[in-house]
Amino acid sequence: MQVIMTDRSSIPQHVAIIMDGNGRWAQQLGKERYEGHIAGVESVRASVRAAVRNGVKYLTLYAFSTENWGRPQQEVEAIMELFCRSVISEVEELRRQGVRVVVIGRRSRFSERVREHLESIERQTSDGDKLTLVLAFDYSSRSEIVAGVQTLARRVAAGELSADDIDEQTISDALYTASIPDPDIIVRSGGECRLSNFLLWQASYAELYFPTVLWPDFGEEQFDAAVEEFARRDRRYGLVNDKKL
Ligand code: FPP
Repeated sequence: MQVIMTDRSSIPQHVAIIMDGNGRWAQQLGKERYEGHIAGVESVRASVRAAVRNGVKYLTLYAFSTENWGRPQQEVEAIMELFCRSVISEVEELRRQGVRVVVIGRRSRFSERVREHLESIERQTSDGDKLTLVLAFDYSSRSEIVAGVQTLARRVAAGELSADDIDEQTISDALYTASIPDPDIIVRSGGECRLSNFLLWQASYAELYFPTVLWPDFGEEQFDAAVEEFARRDRRYGLVNDKKL
């Protein structure tokens, strides 16, 4: 469990996780898929604890992708129910740990009840200052970019913005993640090596890490391993590392 660090800059400021493998975990144990999601909530708790302990400031979790609406209705409903129950059961512990919850994604397709729970957890944790937990819920990176481009196009049409003044920052500011720094490392559990429409713009310089462990088996130790992996990577941003010349 011990994380060996050389300096503070080797601790990622922002860890983003694609929580994959709940279904396979359940199937391997002869359980229903939703039982994998229930078990996955414990891994969410463990990741939040480990993020706070490591001094990570932002933790983004891909909780429900836009593509997930295409799953069987029973499974979608089970995930929504699990989310609502988790909001109620976890809020006090999140507040105790100084965690602020922010939800990104498209809210209009959720039921009134789910929307109320999303707003409630954001409101009740708004003064957390140790960790910002970003929940990507009905999130799709391409839809986020389309919505951002539409916003900018409207501003240009209204004469508020000149097309020539659009730069990388303008685009970043038009995304759901406007106030959130880019992820330093993106972790995907379950062994698949792809980003599946998650933070595509924001991932430009992120380290990518694909442990094979299924999400319900992802605990504090696995989170620490991701932090250690980040510390080992040599980030050059297209430049050269002069220490090695
Ligand atoms: C992917 O595994 C996981 C999901 C689509 C849902 C993740 C939800 C949770 C962990 C619980 C609720 C979250 C919060 C924040 C309370 P999969 O079903 O795609 O697994 P598979 O690839 O093995 O089929």
